[in-house]
Amino acid sequence: MNIVLIGFMCSGKSSVAERLSEISGYRLFDTDRMIEQTYKKTVQDIFIQYGEEFFRKAEYNAVKSALSEDNRIIATGGGALTSPETAELIKSGGVKLYLKISLKTAKSRNDGGRPLLSGLSDNQLKNLFDRREKLYQSAADLTVNAENDSPEVLAEKIYKIIIKGEKN
Ligand code: S3P
Repeated sequence: MNIVLIGFMCSGKSSVAERLSEISGYRLFDTDRMIEQTYKKTVQDIFIQYGEEFFRKAEYNAVKSALSEDNRIIATGGGALTSPETAELIKSGGVKLYLKISLKTAKSRNDGGRPLLSGLSDNQLKNLFDRREKLYQSAADLTVNAENDSPEVLAEKIYKIIIKGEKN
């Protein structure tokens, strides 16, 4: 079984995935980091130099490669489901876990390293958030409130529910 973490920017996908990998022994794949390694540039630089369309293709390849074997924890980028091809891979690739946060929390956690989060007006960001939320919700097998708990606590909860099969 593969566990794929989905959710908006700054929802904690990477940190929760890292901890979940430690507890479960499943191998960790973080698609943003995979893309950065492939192109030897930050996600931000890839967006600036090559544009979003290029990034989405690279993201498709990273998700495909991450899902190519079983028993993996995969942290995706917040926009992965906006590409229908990538969304299809994710939907058929494992258990989808939605880390749900509010837009307010995303903004408060932003450290400036997200090209989309930093570059949009409040209105544009609200529109983006609402559109994205629908995508996460419709793809999710399990939704976890990620507003308050630390990545450690969230990972423990998810481990018990998904891997050990305890009741929610
Ligand atoms: C993006 C989210 C980012 C990263 C890129 C685009 C998005 O990942 O993939 O900046 O479109 O929401 P995180 O969700 O890990 O910040």
